[in-house]
Amino acid sequence: MAVLITGGLGHVGSWVAQMLASQGKKVIICDMAAKHFDTLGLDYLEAVRDKLVLEAVDVLDYHTLFETLLTYRDELEGVIHGVSVIAGPSFQQRPFRNISVNTLGTLNVYETCRILGINKVVNMSSGAVYGDAAGPQHETTPYKATDLYGATKISGELFGDQYTETYGMDIRHARLFFVYGPGKRPSHMHQVYQALFGPLEGLSDVQAPNGRDQALDWTHVHDTARGIVLLFEKASVQARHFNISCGVTVDHQAIVDEVERLLGKSSNMQLGPGPFVVRGSPLDISLARDELGFTPTYTDIRQGLESYRDWLDQSP
Ligand SMILES: NC(=O)c1ccc[n+]([C@@H]2O[C@H](COP(=O)([O-])OP(=O)(O)OC[C@H]3O[C@@H](n4cnc5c(N)ncnc54)[C@H](O)[C@@H]3O)[C@@H](O)[C@H]2O)c1
Repeated sequence: MAVLITGGLGHVGSWVAQMLASQGKKVIICDMAAKHFDTLGLDYLEAVRDKLVLEAVDVLDYHTLFETLLTYRDELEGVIHGVSVIAGPSFQQRPFRNISVNTLGTLNVYETCRILGINKVVNMSSGAVYGDAAGPQHETTPYKATDLYGATKISGELFGDQYTETYGMDIRHARLFFVYGPGKRPSHMHQVYQALFGPLEGLSDVQAPNGRDQALDWTHVHDTARGIVLLFEKASVQARHFNISCGVTVDHQAIVDEVERLLGKSSNMQLGPGPFVVRGSPLDISLARDELGFTPTYTDIRQGLESYRDWLDQSP
């Protein structure tokens, strides 16, 4: 059997692909970036390259998406949907395009799966669906959007739940939170991410406009991806929404300090006042622990930073 991952060349999707392919599964990656695979620096996919099929598909191009899923339908166990424009300062600069990718793109995936009889879908959602509700946020904490991105992730869950109710599909939502680690180059990211993790890649003297007054449960990408794989592989689930994070908040300034300690030098990273994005934290991950057996490895940020540094050192 095979698994199809939309956004499978993204930070999270590529590690989900790596884990499933390492188990011997065929993984069909549908990602707009497929034609540029060799330039993406996803070196951890090399060892499983023979298990991967790459398809360059834009989820907003319904016809091509449909034809691609039709091609693989008979061998598919299910679909993991990981295309989104992620939260950050650039989201509101192109609202119509970004909202379309997140909402219409998700609807296109659900609709194609419905018509083709592909029942199982895991949707990569976000702790952004809780907005700034005080943590620990449980899966029962009401929806609250504090930005456009959050609104798109809420809509993806609402439509997924109604597709499940109306058509008997099995759409599950993994609520991810602030992912960092191997596969993502700080120099390609926004300034707050650079100020936190950039020195691991040799960056220095970044002045981020905000982010100082915040503590979030930054989650190592291996833990995030493992949580998604567990959710996908669970035969049946009692709930539809699962928080997947490390479950522990870390103060942003503490991350800057830990990175300095790890490298043994100052990189002169400055975080400006106020939060990076308006969110509460941490996510309560007890449901994922109890129902999926999800136990994050990197609950201590120091271990996560070491793992990140090692990957950045080895991947020039
Ligand atoms: N990264 C985080 O901190 C975080 C936190 C919470 C939730 N999430 C969610 O997890 C999911 C994955 O996030 P990520 O960090 O891996 O994102 P990412 O930006 O690294 O990856 C997204 C992938 O989607 C592809 N893509 C973008 N637009 C596309 C389109 N129109 N058609 C086809 N492919 C397209 C990109 O090429 C990229 O490979 C998203 O749904 C995101 O909302 C991420």
